[in-house]
Amino acid sequence: MDGKAVAAKVRSEVAVRAKEFASKYGRRPGLAVVQVGQDAASTVYVRNKRKSSIEAEIESFAHDLPATTTQAELLELVQGLNRNPRVDGILVQMPLPKGLDSDAIMDAVDPAKDVDGFHPTNTGLLAQKRPRLRPCTPFGVIRLAKEYGIDLTGLRATVVGASNIVGRPMALELLLARSTVTVCHTGTRDLESEVSRADVVVAAVGKAGFVPGAWIKPGAAVFDVGINRTAEGKLVGDVEYSKAAERAGWITPVPGGLGPMTIAMLLSNAVDAAFRRANV
Ligand code: GUN
Repeated sequence: MDGKAVAAKVRSEVAVRAKEFASKYGRRPGLAVVQVGQDAASTVYVRNKRKSSIEAEIESFAHDLPATTTQAELLELVQGLNRNPRVDGILVQMPLPKGLDSDAIMDAVDPAKDVDGFHPTNTGLLAQKRPRLRPCTPFGVIRLAKEYGIDLTGLRATVVGASNIVGRPMALELLLARSTVTVCHTGTRDLESEVSRADVVVAAVGKAGFVPGAWIKPGAAVFDVGINRTAEGKLVGDVEYSKAAERAGWITPVPGGLGPMTIAMLLSNAVDAAFRRANV
């Protein structure tokens, strides 16, 4: 599955909707992207998010804070963005530097501006099958499946990884799509048997080649959320790609899979948030 191509399609749809918003409301949708500290991977993601915003006719508000920022200072920034009427979406790039409480920061973002879908209100709405702002990577998996005509209804889906950012909301998205869902984590007894009976595998662990290709059921759809840098400086996913690709019916590459999809769904959320805020 070509995440880059589908992401380009989503971004062009977003640009059309952003222009509609601008002509109706006299301003572009606004997206604030906050980075605290200088984590190398985060810097690349944040730069891409800001650049893609502008290309999609969304106004980008950039806030770069030093790693020494206190919890109170970061909360104050978030509260200011909550109050700023030109800001429709707020994203605080994770992970935060040690010493900062990311749960408290996610709780502080106005749920109406929570384009990451990390606020408990948005998580709860997704859990109750009335999704509003949906976490970008899981939403990207669902969109990619749709673009490739993969009907998730009734499929056995196994999610490897149970993080708040990907694994848990992924399970909720797959449940919403009427898959039969299994979530694996460090407490899972027999990971191989859980993966090898899955029609859909989502790997979100953050360890290069964590899922051996030989575990993939022939014909399965494999969504690889991992972005790991090897000792040789290569980017690879959580799935052993070349062996998995021989067995899978569909598989996402790394790079060029869920990375670009995540950014595209973020922009889509920002425009959704803008319209919703203007209409509520
Ligand atoms: N870190 C890794 N993925 C994400 C994401 O989707 N949003 C934010 N805010 N931080 C992340």
